[in-house]
Amino acid sequence: MVKLLTVVGARPQIIKAAALSRAIRKSFSNKISEQILHTGQHYDNNMSQVFFDEMGIPEPDFNLEVGSSGHGVQTAAMIVGVEEILITEKPDFIVLYGDTNSTLAGAIAASKLKIPIVHIEAGLRSFNKSMPEEINRIMCDHASTLLFSPTQTGVSNLQKEGFNMSNQPPFTSDNPAVFHCGDIMYDNSLYFSEIANEKSKILEKDNLSPGEFILATIHRDNNTDDPVRMNGIFEALNHIASNGITVFLPLHPRASKLLKQNINKNLYQKISTNPNLIISHPVSFLDIIKLEKNARMIITDSGGVQKESYFFKKPCIILRPQTEWVEIVDSGAAMIVDADKDKILKAYEYFSGKTNLNYPPVFGDGKAAEFICNQIIYFINNYDKLTLN
Ligand code: UD1
Ligand code: UDP
Repeated sequence: MVKLLTVVGARPQIIKAAALSRAIRKSFSNKISEQILHTGQHYDNNMSQVFFDEMGIPEPDFNLEVGSSGHGVQTAAMIVGVEEILITEKPDFIVLYGDTNSTLAGAIAASKLKIPIVHIEAGLRSFNKSMPEEINRIMCDHASTLLFSPTQTGVSNLQKEGFNMSNQPPFTSDNPAVFHCGDIMYDNSLYFSEIANEKSKILEKDNLSPGEFILATIHRDNNTDDPVRMNGIFEALNHIASNGITVFLPLHPRASKLLKQNINKNLYQKISTNPNLIISHPVSFLDIIKLEKNARMIITDSGGVQKESYFFKKPCIILRPQTEWVEIVDSGAAMIVDADKDKILKAYEYFSGKTNLNYPPVFGDGKAAEFICNQIIYFINNYDKLTLN
């Protein structure tokens, strides 16, 4: 039996972990056992528990409950907590997702204890080291033993940083293995698409008609914490919502906490009274999928929502200066506009008149989780250099 310790903390990691846990339960329960450690980075019900309940993820075996604080305090508390659990549980692998502080803490704690790291969503780069995520993902990749990249671009980025695709076993963090496996989030979007059609009542609840609204999400620290950028984005959303179409904005707590403080008074008054701009609390996974599938267009700075927009064949306006998901921009289905009001409105007009967008299949076959499980088992069966429990 291979023993995994999966670390989650932020919303998108809980969502990604659902796919791997589902694959383990369905096809690998006689070969892989999984424990889940929640760092507690996200803790509101609608940022955490709702996903465990709705997506059938087993309750975490451990919760560090670190909560919110500065990067140093938060990451340090996580490292201490993850280390303690690694020492007592002695997993064969730690499984880390993406690029958050929870990912970084897991990578530091495991690498010092020489526990091999499986990094899912490896190789992505924005080439912007002012993003905390860019540092987190580079550090995690370079401490990992098995790296699973969702895209060919991710694999190429790793090769440019010295990762060798022809490395031969036994794999270690000095001799790591890189796999191109497709996107684990695509697994979830396919799996939950029909379930969302049946179960989500979000359209009825918020009086939204299919194809007659724009879905928007905002949470990047550079957008929420910088008043100029936040005003630019909200001016554009308010403008769009003043011209006959509804904008539905399930707002991340980081953004909602800073909204009143960072938006100028006049604009705040306008957005608070615009009946076509619906600002909601964060919604569940089934609800967001239903919204994505039925939106006319998506405006977002989220990595996950950008991709889901592509999975469901919706044009996407990206509120960032660059993206790790370059394929969706190259295909013409997404546009980078940063936080510039005029660029956002131009992109909105452009996509409003477009009907023939292409969405080439660049994110795999929806079976990334099975692929990852098979590679982990293969690794253990063939290279018994590790001490198994
Ligand atoms: C984190 C990740 C980011 C990821 C995002 C997904 C880092 C450095 N950033 O950003 O990569 O895209 O999660 O959503 O790890 N808050 C609440 N309730 C919660 C969680 C957060 O109110 O349940 C508020 C707190 O005021 C907190 C702020 O949101 O200070 C930011 O939370 P934090 O986890 O530090 O970063 P995110 O912006 O969520
Ligand atoms: N998401 C959700 N409810 C929301 C907004 C987003 O369930 O109200 C999901 C979204 O579908 C995607 C994931 O959260 O699967 C993306 O997380 P987030 O935008 O917080 O972070 P990022 O992907 O940018 O790291």
